[in-house]
Amino acid sequence: MRIDVVTIFPEFFDVLDISLLGRARQTGLLDVTAHNLREFTHDRHRTVDDTPYGGGAGMVMKPEPWGEALDSILPTETEAPGGDAPVVIFPSPAGTVFTQKMARELAQREHLVFGCGRYEGIDQRVFDHAATRAEVRLVSIGDYVLNGGEVAVMAMIEAIGRLIPGVVGNPESLVEESHEDGLLEYPSYTKPAAWRGLEVPPILLSGNHRAIDDWRRAQQIERTRTVRPDLLPPDLLPNE
Ligand code: ADE
Repeated sequence: MRIDVVTIFPEFFDVLDISLLGRARQTGLLDVTAHNLREFTHDRHRTVDDTPYGGGAGMVMKPEPWGEALDSILPTETEAPGGDAPVVIFPSPAGTVFTQKMARELAQREHLVFGCGRYEGIDQRVFDHAATRAEVRLVSIGDYVLNGGEVAVMAMIEAIGRLIPGVVGNPESLVEESHEDGLLEYPSYTKPAAWRGLEVPPILLSGNHRAIDDWRRAQQIERTRTVRPDLLPPDLLPNE
């Protein structure tokens, strides 16, 4: 998968060199490039923002550097897009909420472009123009406000990247985790069997795999019901 990120802080993405995603980059499964938006300015101060039309607090990111940055990344109309067209994602608290389902869907795509906004946002025409040549999405990572899109993009790249086949060594570990089957994951234990007076639930030491599966499933349902009742599938809702 190819990922391009446009940002005024490309160094934010240096941490992608470490851990699982770092290995995926080395082995060629993931090709991530961070582009500095300021490289696409032409004034001495490398200006990327200006005051908003209509007034109001804060600054808005100017369209011209964004247009040139996206021109350098997206295929032109004459270049026949090989495979599927890129998806351009702008992280924004005003976007649709990023979920595991969206991560799974985006992990199937060949080319993702992330545009990190700062200040009060990006001139609306950047989104409108990008939509004429790519699929554009505004995506939020949750109902809170960050200073800019970089941290949100890091979270999305990690969630998407680990779903690319070959990135996580044991694909089974992807199946048994929170959100994969619509429920939160069950609690896990390892040795020793007793620690600081706390015992591992005896069923996990029983060797009875059927009973262990049933116990884990019941734990998942109980946890989801307590912590995230909004996620419970209707057939698992408690009867009124
Ligand atoms: N930029 C600022 N806040 C954000 C959020 N919650 N999600 C995505 N991008 C953002």
